[in-house]
Amino acid sequence: MLAAITAQHAEITRLVASVHAADGAGRPDALHQLLAYLAGHEAVEEVLLHPSAQSTAEPEVGAERVAEEEGIGQQVQRLEDAGIDSPVFLTQFGLMEEAISQHAKAEEERELPLLLEDIDSARAALVLHALHEQASASARRTGSFAEMLETATHDVRGLAARH
Ligand SMILES: [Fe+2]
Ligand SMILES: [Fe+2]
Repeated sequence: MLAAITAQHAEITRLVASVHAADGAGRPDALHQLLAYLAGHEAVEEVLLHPSAQSTAEPEVGAERVAEEEGIGQQVQRLEDAGIDSPVFLTQFGLMEEAISQHAKAEEERELPLLLEDIDSARAALVLHALHEQASASARRTGSFAEMLETATHDVRGLAARH
């Protein structure tokens, strides 16, 4: 599970870099790919990981990650409001990028070690299934980040309810 989440964090880093590398014409598509993938990834963590972390001996570790994801959502909202042609786009993108990378680091270094202590194999398998499913779904997602996050969250909850 740690490997799967770390691999998704690496993919997010790659998608961030591709927004930087894209020229003006390619940037909207690169940004959409990043946000669609990020929405699926954060939905899995929000539904399946942070609540578990909040019922460990260190509940604040899960609560902090939830707060960070809300912060990332607000950064993305500001980015979408500014628009890709805005002179502040790259500044706002940099703030979002920093928030994402700090958050991923905290998940890997603080939250996942805590969760891995007592997660059972069925739960770990569900997380892997959800990560895989959301990564595949990201190519089909449309709309704003908030809309994609809402749909992804709904899908992950549905998957969890069937297990
Ligand atoms: Fe997260
Ligand atoms: Fe994450």
